[in-house]
Amino acid sequence: NLSSSKAVFEQRLCESLFISFARLEAPPAVRTMTTYLWLDCDPGHDDAFALILACHGLNPAVIVAGVSTVCGNQTVDKTTDNALRVLHLLGRDDVQVHKGASKPLIRPTRNCPEIHGESGLDGPDIPDAGREASDTPPIVAMAKAFEKVLQIPSATPTLVAMGAMTNVALFCSVYPEIARQINLVFMGGALTKGNTGPTAEFNIQCDPEAASVVLEFPFKSITMVPLETTHTALVTKKIRNRMRVGPSYIPPNDDTGTDTTVTATNRFRQLTDEILMFFANTYSKEFGFKHGPPLHDPCAVFFAIAPEKFKTEKLRIDVECSGTHTAGTTVVDWWRQSPEKPLNVDVVLDMDVESFWEAMCIAVDNASAACPLR
Ligand code: RIB
Ligand code: CA
Repeated sequence: NLSSSKAVFEQRLCESLFISFARLEAPPAVRTMTTYLWLDCDPGHDDAFALILACHGLNPAVIVAGVSTVCGNQTVDKTTDNALRVLHLLGRDDVQVHKGASKPLIRPTRNCPEIHGESGLDGPDIPDAGREASDTPPIVAMAKAFEKVLQIPSATPTLVAMGAMTNVALFCSVYPEIARQINLVFMGGALTKGNTGPTAEFNIQCDPEAASVVLEFPFKSITMVPLETTHTALVTKKIRNRMRVGPSYIPPNDDTGTDTTVTATNRFRQLTDEILMFFANTYSKEFGFKHGPPLHDPCAVFFAIAPEKFKTEKLRIDVECSGTHTAGTTVVDWWRQSPEKPLNVDVVLDMDVESFWEAMCIAVDNASAACPLR
């Protein structure tokens, strides 16, 4: 009726005005140079938010050169379908999706339905994308995309890996001359406690041999965003409410975001909230996270677009590939006991979490305005 459509119009107007002002008054995270990203992922609830941040981040100078998918959270058929659906939801059918490795280099496949469900993105009913993945294999598409970017003066492409590193290992093995000119940022590994292994994190544990190949390869830079960092990016009730409502949300005085009357103001925000609700439930059940699930993968995208918001230390990292109980562990040579091995990874030790959520929430606002579904 007229009053509800007026309210919807006012909400949308507020969102678009906020977004335009946000772009004008952007925090320092907005960079003047263009950032060229390739996203390798296994959507995946947190991968979906990494796509939101990359495709609609506050920084308008982020170009997503392509997306490749890998077997991890679910089979590669499912992660590919999920990537296509999420990009369609974001109004980004222009971004090509390339279906990658269906299994690890050596080991049998391993999925994670206990966290991501049978579809890999259980919870919301996200409409079909209405398009297929590209016929071009991911490593070929990566090589073409990176070669184009490398022709731009002072441009360095960044490969953001957010699943098993099978595609990344194949890429640097087949195209070493290109790979050594690009930056690699990966969400994965742990400095102490694992998640799906006592000391191993899931992305590395899925394909330890691939991760070992990658961390031994001389990329221009390798940055690791471990569980210790991503576990500081918890989707609290307050964040959930802010994402449901948009920029006009004012948290209650108790500042815990416990206002349960807050409802999503449009279909996009409803669908993204259903993604978070499923993820929160499985993380609470499987890992006892009672204050919200950790949004792992967008932290790696945030590093790629705003590295100044992070603290890193160059360390020697090796991947355990043969341990019965420890396969997939990222082993840190804290005391340089193997000085003959070069320092190979910039390990993230801290992230500006407030800036991360500011960028993530604005990306959700931008995506909400761009979503073709109403
Ligand atoms: O361990 C967390 C990582 O494993 C995230 O990338 C999540 O999406 C899963 O792939
Ligand atoms: Ca992932």
